[in-house]
Amino acid sequence: MAATVNVNGRISDEQEAVISVFDHGFLYGEGIYETLRTYNGRLFLFDRHMRRLRNSARLIGLAIPFTDNELARQISETIAATKLDEKEAYVRVLVTRGVGELTYELKATPKASWVIIVKPLVEPAAEVYKRGCNIVLVDVVRNHPGSVNPMIKCNNLMNQALAAQQAFKRGAFDGVMRNYRGELTECATSNLFIVKNGIVLTPPVECGLLPGITREFIFETGRDVGIEVGEQVLRDDDLLNADEAFLTSTTREVVPIVAVDERAIGGGKPGPVTVKLLKTFRDLARAG
Ligand code: PDD
Repeated sequence: MAATVNVNGRISDEQEAVISVFDHGFLYGEGIYETLRTYNGRLFLFDRHMRRLRNSARLIGLAIPFTDNELARQISETIAATKLDEKEAYVRVLVTRGVGELTYELKATPKASWVIIVKPLVEPAAEVYKRGCNIVLVDVVRNHPGSVNPMIKCNNLMNQALAAQQAFKRGAFDGVMRNYRGELTECATSNLFIVKNGIVLTPPVECGLLPGITREFIFETGRDVGIEVGEQVLRDDDLLNADEAFLTSTTREVVPIVAVDERAIGGGKPGPVTVKLLKTFRDLARAG
């Protein structure tokens, strides 16, 4: 890994980047984050990531210590200090409650900490887009919205880590989590879509999932090319009997799913709707 890190405005290489063990982000997982990437060196959908970051902050009662413009400048300076070797940049922005006494009292942490990590973006292999990926249904349940709401893009990723690790153990690319009612929500690190009779469907945010920026963009991409994209409560059978399926995220774009629990989806090949959305998505993203 060749990362450059900006800790509260101080840019260094990864070995020198330090944060206090008394930071409540470390002690209690009290923090939020965003993952962004560049296309042609420019941050993609920065405003939308900022909107979500501010919403995550609001939901945990955290004051963000910078304006959007200040953060954009700090990210640019951190990218400029990174050896990207012609690659696009992966950018992770974290904001935590800050350093303080071992107590949950908010007054113990008057100043939020923030970190920007930049490294060369590692995209999924071209084969994954060409052949598609296999996923599994995992038995880790997505957080109840009345617990740590999945709307919060939270640094406490234990639930997602357990789901992903279960999927990896089974040789899968990602794992789909159900909610407490047994409805499908999303994968451990990406949103989930199916295609049925030409219509693209994804679970509504009310099912308890992260409102992905790529997910939102797919609604617009679909509109551009005349593909209907909607929200619907989905269950295991909807996924297993789908004509096509795919997952989306900032770092993965649109990845075709060709098997679920080792059962082929859409004849085991990426379907035409998925392929069209991936191509259009990339064209739009690269055009900026
Ligand atoms: N993950 N759902 C979950 C649980 C996620 O962690 C992510 C993103 C998404 C997709 O959101 P977006 O399209 O905004 O990237 C959905 C990022 C990439 C991460 O954790 O680094």
